[in-house]
Amino acid sequence: MEKARLDWGNLIFGYTKTDYNVRCYYRDGKWGELEVSSSENINLHIASVSLHYGQQAFEGLKIFEGKDGKARVFRLEENAKRMQLSSEGILMAKIPTDLFKKAVYKVVELNRKFIPPYGSGASLYARPLLIGSGGKLGIGPSDEFMFAIFVSPVGPYFKEGFKPVSLLLARNHDRTAPLGTGRYKVGGNYAASFIAMKEAKNKGFSNVLYLDALHKKYIDECGPANFFAIKKEENKIIYVTPKADKTILASITNKSLMKIAENLGYEVIRRELELEELDNFDEAGACGTAAVISPIWKIRDDENNKNYIFGTKEKAGEISTILYNKLLAIQTGDIKDEHNWVEFI
Ligand code: PLP
Ligand code: COI
Repeated sequence: MEKARLDWGNLIFGYTKTDYNVRCYYRDGKWGELEVSSSENINLHIASVSLHYGQQAFEGLKIFEGKDGKARVFRLEENAKRMQLSSEGILMAKIPTDLFKKAVYKVVELNRKFIPPYGSGASLYARPLLIGSGGKLGIGPSDEFMFAIFVSPVGPYFKEGFKPVSLLLARNHDRTAPLGTGRYKVGGNYAASFIAMKEAKNKGFSNVLYLDALHKKYIDECGPANFFAIKKEENKIIYVTPKADKTILASITNKSLMKIAENLGYEVIRRELELEELDNFDEAGACGTAAVISPIWKIRDDENNKNYIFGTKEKAGEISTILYNKLLAIQTGDIKDEHNWVEFI
């Protein structure tokens, strides 16, 4: 199939219009048929619960073209499960996994020409969205929901690509509360993080790193990605990532990297990770679907006038590079997908 005329190698992580999106509506207690639309707009009740009270959740997953020209989607059942978890968290109707998968397949099939070519470094990002669409004035969950997915060809989330970034500690902001919605992928968490992100960007940082809201001592995650750190010991390599089941999003990328790290013989540890321990680590990274791995070279603690430095600004660390290459090689089909993480569309 002929590809769309896009400058594939220079795509940023941004919205590009494609031909179609898919939608499905939940009314009278059941999901309807999947519909195809070529409009970028949705028609919403002015009192929609999603608009007023933020009842909405979203997902993000990527589709890659392999050397063989086939489209591969990465771990979409995990995204379906996480959207169901978000639904539980804020009382929305759940999208059955079959419907989620059918919708992803459909929207990708309809927009095949927007799948970036193998080797371009770009991918097709699918954005499933679930909103409480019903109109209501009193505070409470909607009875009606809209599920939609659009796609957009994207480049790297951090403009630096696979180059080390610097992060600012969000000492004066929290993304979520200890018993709040941090583990759900709901829009409110992101709106709550805009101000910290703006402050960080104004000061020249790529993004922020959050500490746990209760103690302001342990690392939570970055704005759009989980955090990991690597320690190289004489006879072993250790991958440590925060265990904060209630406050951070369970990243599918992080879960995959932990498995890859384990297979490489590294020791993988999920535990509370104190900020101050970071002095003992050799590498650090932010990981997520959009971010893939963004190596971190500096974390700045402004209030304590302290920098945590990992390697150099110029080049990603050795272990982060190995992990990044392995993950991408699985996603694009360059190496065997021994875990069955990839499905062909
Ligand atoms: N943490 C947050 C807050 C995110 O928005 C994301 C992105 O989805 C992630 C972590 C990474 O999760 P995943 O690897 O499943 O994309
Ligand atoms: C993703 O990685 O899919 C995300 O959703 C992060 C961000 C773009 C919101």
